[in-house]
Amino acid sequence: MSQVTEYSEKVMDHFTNPRNVGELEDASGVGTVGNAKCGDIMRMYLSIDDAGVVTDAKFKTFGCGAAVATSSMATELVKGKTVQEAMNVTNKAVMEALDGLPPVKVHCSLLAEEAIHAALWDYSKKSGVQIDGLEEPVADIGEIEE
Ligand code: FES
Repeated sequence: MSQVTEYSEKVMDHFTNPRNVGELEDASGVGTVGNAKCGDIMRMYLSIDDAGVVTDAKFKTFGCGAAVATSSMATELVKGKTVQEAMNVTNKAVMEALDGLPPVKVHCSLLAEEAIHAALWDYSKKSGVQIDGLEEPVADIGEIEE
């Protein structure tokens, strides 16, 4: 991917009109992560059906614009995927779907990936469903005060 120095139209679109902001009652998995670099926080909610397909995804963040845009795109990308396929929604995949991010903002996109993994971990623990390649999220900070 070539070096990007400013926000793409897609980033601006997802920042100004973010998809899937909010929370899901009765979510199958919830993950909350913090970004050590900037201190920002992201919480991801996933609804997963009996076939292991992500039927809905929502997020809430105290992150910057790039975090909002990447989470918005990430939630769009995981919907309709199996939990195993959702593992492929990496920060790199999200950045590519957004036509890139400036290098100083790459760490923001990690919040979305880590929050998805944390939510999948929560789901896996509750349901007993194994997800290949999923590791316990080190960044999960658990419940935070609203
Ligand atoms: Fe914190 Fe972007 S600066 S998520």
